Amino acid sequence: MTTTLFASVITIILIVSTTTTVSLAAKNQSQFFSLIKDSLTGKYPLNWDEGKPLCHFTGVICNTKGEVISLDLSGWSSLSGKFPSETCSYLPQLRVIRLGHTRFNFPIDTILNCSHLQELNMNYMYQAGTLPDFSSLKSLRILDLSYNLFTGQFPMSVFNLTNLEVLNFNENGGFNLWQLPTDIDKLRNLKSMVLTTCMVHGQIPSSIGNITSLVDLELSGNFLTGQIPKELGQLRNLQQLELYYNYHLVGNIPEELGNLTELVDLDMSVNKFTGSIPASVCSLPKLQVLQLYNNSLTGEIPGAIENSTTLRMLSLYDNFLSGHVPPKLGQFSRMLVLDLSENKFSGPLPTEVCKGDALQYFLVLDNWFSGEIPESYANCMTLLRFRVNKNSLEGSIPKGLLGLPHVSIIDLSSNNLTGPVPEITGNSRNLSELFLQRNKISGVITPTISRAINLVKIDFSYNLLSGPIPSEIGKLRKLNLLMLQGNKLSSSIPSSLSLLKCLNLLDLSNNLLTGSIPESLSVLLPNSINFSHNLLSGPIPPKLIKGGLVESFSGNPGLCVLPVYANSSDQNFPICATSYKSKRINTIWIAGVSVVLIFVGSALFLKRRCCKDTAIVKHEDTLSSSLCYFDVKSFHKISFDQREIIESLVDKNIMGHGGSGTVYKIDLKSGDIVAVKRLWSRKSKDSAPEDPLFVDKALKAEVETLGSIRHKNIVKLYCCFSSLDCNLLVYEYMPNGTLWDSLHKGWILLDWPTRYRIALGIAQGLAYLHHDLLFPIIHRDIKSSNILLDVDYQPKVADFGIAKVLQARGGKDSTTTVIAGTYGYLAPEFAYSSRATTKCDVYSFGVILMELLTGRKPVEAEFGENRNIVFWVSNKVEGKEGARPSQVFDPRLSCSLKDDMIKVLRIAIRCTYKAPASRPTMKEVVQLLIEAKPRGSDSCNLSTKDVSNVTVLKKPYEL
Ligand SMILES: *[C@@H]1O[C@H](CO)[C@@H](O)[C@H](O)[C@H]1NC(C)=O
Ligand SMILES: *[C@@H]1O[C@H](CO)[C@@H](O)[C@H](O)[C@H]1NC(C)=O
Ligand SMILES: *[C@@H]1O[C@H](CO)[C@@H](O)[C@H](O)[C@H]1NC(C)=O
Ligand SMILES: *[C@@H]1O[C@H](CO)[C@@H](O)[C@H](O)[C@H]1NC(C)=O
Repeated sequence: MTTTLFASVITIILIVSTTTTVSLAAKNQSQFFSLIKDSLTGKYPLNWDEGKPLCHFTGVICNTKGEVISLDLSGWSSLSGKFPSETCSYLPQLRVIRLGHTRFNFPIDTILNCSHLQELNMNYMYQAGTLPDFSSLKSLRILDLSYNLFTGQFPMSVFNLTNLEVLNFNENGGFNLWQLPTDIDKLRNLKSMVLTTCMVHGQIPSSIGNITSLVDLELSGNFLTGQIPKELGQLRNLQQLELYYNYHLVGNIPEELGNLTELVDLDMSVNKFTGSIPASVCSLPKLQVLQLYNNSLTGEIPGAIENSTTLRMLSLYDNFLSGHVPPKLGQFSRMLVLDLSENKFSGPLPTEVCKGDALQYFLVLDNWFSGEIPESYANCMTLLRFRVNKNSLEGSIPKGLLGLPHVSIIDLSSNNLTGPVPEITGNSRNLSELFLQRNKISGVITPTISRAINLVKIDFSYNLLSGPIPSEIGKLRKLNLLMLQGNKLSSSIPSSLSLLKCLNLLDLSNNLLTGSIPESLSVLLPNSINFSHNLLSGPIPPKLIKGGLVESFSGNPGLCVLPVYANSSDQNFPICATSYKSKRINTIWIAGVSVVLIFVGSALFLKRRCCKDTAIVKHEDTLSSSLCYFDVKSFHKISFDQREIIESLVDKNIMGHGGSGTVYKIDLKSGDIVAVKRLWSRKSKDSAPEDPLFVDKALKAEVETLGSIRHKNIVKLYCCFSSLDCNLLVYEYMPNGTLWDSLHKGWILLDWPTRYRIALGIAQGLAYLHHDLLFPIIHRDIKSSNILLDVDYQPKVADFGIAKVLQARGGKDSTTTVIAGTYGYLAPEFAYSSRATTKCDVYSFGVILMELLTGRKPVEAEFGENRNIVFWVSNKVEGKEGARPSQVFDPRLSCSLKDDMIKVLRIAIRCTYKAPASRPTMKEVVQLLIEAKPRGSDSCNLSTKDVSNVTVLKKPYEL
């Protein structure tokens, strides 16, 4: 933004002040524009017409003599080709050239003879190649080469351009390591120095303190070492100082930074700073953002911070800070984020942080806080996350906290809280995760829990809860995790749990539950289920045992197995008495065609759920010709009639239900097959409608991100129909379903070369999203059930419902309310930070690699409580027992490709490193995977051709 401002100022000055004599340049100039149009093909503005005066062309500014002084093609992204060379032999008076957000090839050499050039802006061009010597561009004031892919030596000559005001090389990760010159203070007019993520190492020269014109100094994401020079305290105009993610900066935070009275934003996170936070910094009069997380700071938070009137974000997590937190922190300012997690703070929680009516994040988990949860937070209408887990808090949960309108995560677990779960009286439509486990909470689980209709995770385990499991829980249709183990719950298991189609983890163990296990739960197929140590009786539904879940039923003396099933299961349970004979007949049939069971089961289940849908479809049938106006957006060429699609939205075409809608497979008259996702209707009168806001967001995200991109490993969105009643997305159809099904449903066995090709394909798709687009896209929900397989088992990344397009510098975004990601695939930093980064996708991809290698699911009971496959694999591989990595490999892949698989295992482990910055980028992952290509020659009979070897074990029912 500043860049544009400077630029326009300069342009105006130039127009006024140019006094050059008229030359014969005019002819040369028009030649040059012909050259441009010959070499750069694509769409030009209408007024770029040969006959017209070129000084009137869009993007062109001339001086009073008719000489071009400014050429601004920024954002002309349709142009391709190579920019003509020798620009300034044609346009000798050129001052400004702006090409940001374009994709044509612009060799910088072409403007090296532009001795008058004052501004060169090439941001977001993703240009590769090395950079020339800039010494000839002596007049340069603005140099913005951010977001490119330059390699080789950093052009040190830029530090000789003493007129520079803006120097921006943000995000150029391909340079060789380089150091800041000690005489950097030659740039004495510099206002903005942005050298983030561009491979700087070594020390920060103290001479920077002499560039007192600096307003913005950003050196984050590099490999800087040593201490912060105290001379930085002389930068009296500095508003922004960013040194985060350097990992190796050490020493104290200089007291002198307290002299930076204009400072608004200070971020020194993810380094190795020690010592305490200077009081001088906490009293800076304009400071809004203070982020020092992930360092080794000690001592207390200076009391002066209580009096700040400007502070908005304070993030100090993961340090060794201690003592009481200033009790009135936030009393005079509009605090947005407070994150004190993972320190050693003790005493009471500060009470005034929400006083400014703006607080969104209150995160103090994993400290030694004691006392009660202040009532003031139950009135904090703006809260999104409230996490106080792992402290020593006592007393009861403030009434109203669970009913706050925007809150999405409440985590009170692992404290000493008592009293009941408060009734949910408010409208907590955004609450998606509620953790109360490991407290002393008593009483019954309130049926009003079902008002929090968007709950995804409930963990109330290890408390003193008694009474029934309310059957209303069945209304929480998004529920993914339900943990109630270790309480005194005493009802039967409500059969309404079978409505929880997204349920992934269900643990009811160690309670006093009675009655039988509802047969209907068989349709759920969660990853992990536990009914052990209760008082349950009667037959165990065969489908549940078959999933290898025998231990999930132990400790229930009354449970039995049906005779027909007894042979194949182990003999832990008695055979059911004849009184269950009527069921037995069913069971023979069921066991005989167990796969059909799933089909019938789910068909019935779907039918029940979808009668409403049918009604809507019929309704639309009558309307589609008249009232239902569809706004059709088409992205890829395919011929079909929207009516044909709408008429095919009937039950028999349903393939399944995704996170945001129902998916249909439709055979078009043309012979093509498409998949159609129908987002839940916005006008649904159902008792549990999806949040309309959520639907709109999901639709928008999906259409905007998918509609504009093409890659062989990204699912194709053909078009989108939307109307008031319904939203339909039409995709290419993927005959082999999801990777999850291929790996975990046991229908087929993919050999290693096929799995390897799937891994490489996904990596290429993600690398494209992260590195090859104008604005990188973070998918945020990478998991094997979002990877579709085409007829050749080539993978395609799908479901962009919560994808995020990174604009500009990304960062500082803390307003996302939709919880991203899926349990088991979520990067650990998500617990604290709402900053979406591409490294979160890298982590999730690492989890998929582990699934491919091990054949295991990301979360299995065997891994232990709150542990996922990453923990399990790393433990096996790096454990002390001299474990051999190959122990973790899928035993069904029992052949000699172990060495190749070990290479991929290493990549998987790197992708899932705890520190995001230690994870490779997707581009690097692709490279690493290519190096791990299976050699093909091995003793097994695996195909050496580049063709999938897929063994069909059981024929999946035709969907
Ligand atoms: C900068 O300028 C000085 C003096 O003109 C020269 O000696 C030096 O080589 C230049 N540095 C670079 C990197 O061009
Ligand atoms: C800052 O500039 C002054 C005057 O040119 C010089 O004496 C001093 O050494 C410089 N400081 C640093 C740290 O380079
Ligand atoms: C800067 O801060 C230090 C320590 O806080 C102080 O001693 C010094 O006088 C200050 N310098 C200026 C120029 O304000
Ligand atoms: C906050 O300001 C008040 C009033 O100016 C002052 O009395 C108090 O000492 C200040 N608190 C801290 C901790 O500096």
